[in-house]
Amino acid sequence: MINLLLDVDTGIDDALALFYLADAQKQGLLKILGSTTVGGNVEVAQTTLNTLKVWEMLELEIPVASGAESPLQAPLNAAPFVHGDDGLGNTFLTPPKRLPVDESAADMILRLSHEYSGELTLLTTAPLTNIAVALLRDPDLADRIRKLVIMGGAVFTGNVTAVAEANIANDPEAARIVFRSGMEMTLVGLDVTHEVYWEEADLEPLININNERSAFLLQIIRFISGAYESLSGWRRCVLHDPLAAGVCLFPDLVKTEKRYVDVELNGELTRGMTVVDRRGRTPLGEDNMQVALEVDAERFKKQLMQSLLVWVQEG
Ligand code: RIB
Ligand code: CA
Repeated sequence: MINLLLDVDTGIDDALALFYLADAQKQGLLKILGSTTVGGNVEVAQTTLNTLKVWEMLELEIPVASGAESPLQAPLNAAPFVHGDDGLGNTFLTPPKRLPVDESAADMILRLSHEYSGELTLLTTAPLTNIAVALLRDPDLADRIRKLVIMGGAVFTGNVTAVAEANIANDPEAARIVFRSGMEMTLVGLDVTHEVYWEEADLEPLININNERSAFLLQIIRFISGAYESLSGWRRCVLHDPLAAGVCLFPDLVKTEKRYVDVELNGELTRGMTVVDRRGRTPLGEDNMQVALEVDAERFKKQLMQSLLVWVQEG
């Protein structure tokens, strides 16, 4: 059984990851112990509301601890043009009934790492600020985490810049602290997430069920597909965060290489770039994480659609 703590900036693709994980929990594949939020796609106040709201839609009472408002050193570069002003495709849902818990994100991370020492899996689908804050307070955290799966970075590409991915670019200093922590890590970056996307034709199973739940999912998926079309020319919903969630459960969805990875902090053109040393020798440092390079996209897309359909059909 996987004991999971999520760190999210909910966000459309974060929300889809929550739907996927909720279904996995129903199947007994994992237990979601808590969720922490951070500023990223939108401000942290909104990512917290969105996380609470998605758990409410799923009828789950998973605690939500609010975290960092801004990155360690630079201002937050949010992306409402990708995720909507409300972070959920301008669906402007009614506010959630529950409140965040009276514990900070870093406190929740540290507490659960003690309660589940050696057995806690962390999944981050957001800037790494909260994890870095927790590590700055207690570097031994790294030894108590079974595994950290990170949606972030890339070997060969970028999205917010030519070479940097949004979650890492939003807080490169935090990413460096996490990457150098000694934690067991898997990096699920754009090299694989860009292979896993839905286009309009893939949405047919949702379109065929005409109810409020399918309408909500189609609205958020189509919103981000439209944003992606204006940015890249391809009308697609890229499944970044859901794939990282999938890798927590089924590591064989991706093929990885263990490599030394660090983050560029200063480059005029390259700040936030993940530098992955793929040479046969590692003068930069010891291999510190598994880096995903290939993915079974069809297998994962089916899994994700199936988990959404379970929720939609119950509605
Ligand atoms: O680059 C993709 C990532 O940035 C995803 O986690 C998305 O939600 C945004 O946070
Ligand atoms: Ca995210």
